[in-house]
Amino acid sequence: MKLSSMISFAAVALAVALPSVATASTSNPPDLYLGRQGAVSCNLCHSHAGTGSGSVSIQGLPKMYEPGKSYPLTVKVVEPGAKKAGFRLAAQTSDGAQAGKIVNRDPSLDVHVATDNVTYLKQSYNGSDTNGSERSWTFLWKAPEGGSVKFSVDAVAGDGDGTVTGDHSYSFSASAQAGQSSRGQAD
Ligand code: HEC
Repeated sequence: MKLSSMISFAAVALAVALPSVATASTSNPPDLYLGRQGAVSCNLCHSHAGTGSGSVSIQGLPKMYEPGKSYPLTVKVVEPGAKKAGFRLAAQTSDGAQAGKIVNRDPSLDVHVATDNVTYLKQSYNGSDTNGSERSWTFLWKAPEGGSVKFSVDAVAGDGDGTVTGDHSYSFSASAQAGQSSRGQAD
């Protein structure tokens, strides 16, 4: 191959590769940014942190968990007018290690295990449509044998235009301790 044709081949290869790199992040927090040091705020790319009128919450969280018991938990993103929504959730010990087990059977969710073994749960590529104002996703969390657990979730409510502008980001966190009662709800 002549040098000039190699260069044009490389340019075509790049042009073909680039769109697929962009699609990899569509409605799906990039895995590249996950991990103990790397779980960046969605706000790194999505604008307007906290300036929207919406919220993200985790429903069904026990304040005191029973060791080994499985809890159905629901992540809910609400924002009037939002067409797309997404999130990234982790359950971690106080030193940042994985706490308990995340079990997912919902095809609108994806699980990503980072190099430090922390499991991140997030919306899947096709799991981000809202009903015009909200979206929720349910999964199972199997409690560990003990220790304090911090749940943290970062979320984006988007206008559905396929760009990072015009979106709002939200976050929420709550802790749970090992104990007898599983009835109390976290604040
Ligand atoms: C490194 C940059 C980057 C980070 C960090 C990032 N995103 Fe995105 N996200 C994008 C880009 C770029 C788009 C738009 C283009 C596309 O869809 O691929 C997008 C689109 C979205 C959309 C669709 C928005 C719309 O209105 O169409 C959702 C939902 C979303 N991201 C969720 C998240 C969540 C939740 C996080 C954090 C946990 C996150 N993103 C972190 C780059 C990022």
